Amino acid sequence: MISSDATKQADPPNRVVVVMGVSGSGKSTVARTVAAALDAAMLDGDFLHPRANVEKMASGEPLADEDRWPWLDALNDAAFAMSRTHKLSLLVCSALRKRYRDRLREGNPGLSFVFLKADRALLESRLTARRGHFFKPEMLRSQFEALEEPGPDEPDVISVGVEASLDEVVAALIGLLRESRPSLPR
Ligand SMILES: Nc1ncnc2c1ncn2[C@@H]1O[C@H](COP(=O)(O)OP(=O)(O)OP(=O)(O)O)[C@@H](O)[C@H]1O
Ligand SMILES: [Mg+2]
Repeated sequence: MISSDATKQADPPNRVVVVMGVSGSGKSTVARTVAAALDAAMLDGDFLHPRANVEKMASGEPLADEDRWPWLDALNDAAFAMSRTHKLSLLVCSALRKRYRDRLREGNPGLSFVFLKADRALLESRLTARRGHFFKPEMLRSQFEALEEPGPDEPDVISVGVEASLDEVVAALIGLLRESRPSLPR
């Protein structure tokens, strides 16, 4: 006789999805909304920067890679911890360069990426329209210069275009995540 355990569909291992993309592509907003809908853990990587990085950025100085490694290691550890307790966790990190993504992957086999793919002109118009927000086009330029778009050599990255409305982007991402894990809340 087949035991009920054997007939049960085995759930895949716990997953951590890094929501990546340039500043203004919607990472925080999208991740927050998706996490609420799917009862997932969510962490905005911006909050794990060492104090020295926060102060450097506040003074208008760009971060160097040496500043980023301790931050990425903290994110790597956070991803590992989240995967111990949650079926699905969302981690927000721009992860613009492949070497940053590789650092996040180290020792985290259940980790994958969703790349919120944004057109520069679209973001410029979105950010200019944001009221009460000072927009520096220079910042967007440096983001696109730093961006190394994931290619076919990174099969653990799914790209989602953000030209659609926020609701549509959120729905698309929820659909993709449910496809790979049917037991997520409906
Ligand atoms: N698909 C969308 N359509 C229209 N507006 C959007 C969309 N996605 C996000 N936004 C808006 O764009 C702005 C930037 O979004 P958000 O702060 O989430 O971006 P971010 O990628 O986290 O940026 P940062 O890296 O600077 O933290 C917000 O005002 C958000 O409401
Ligand atoms: Mg953000």
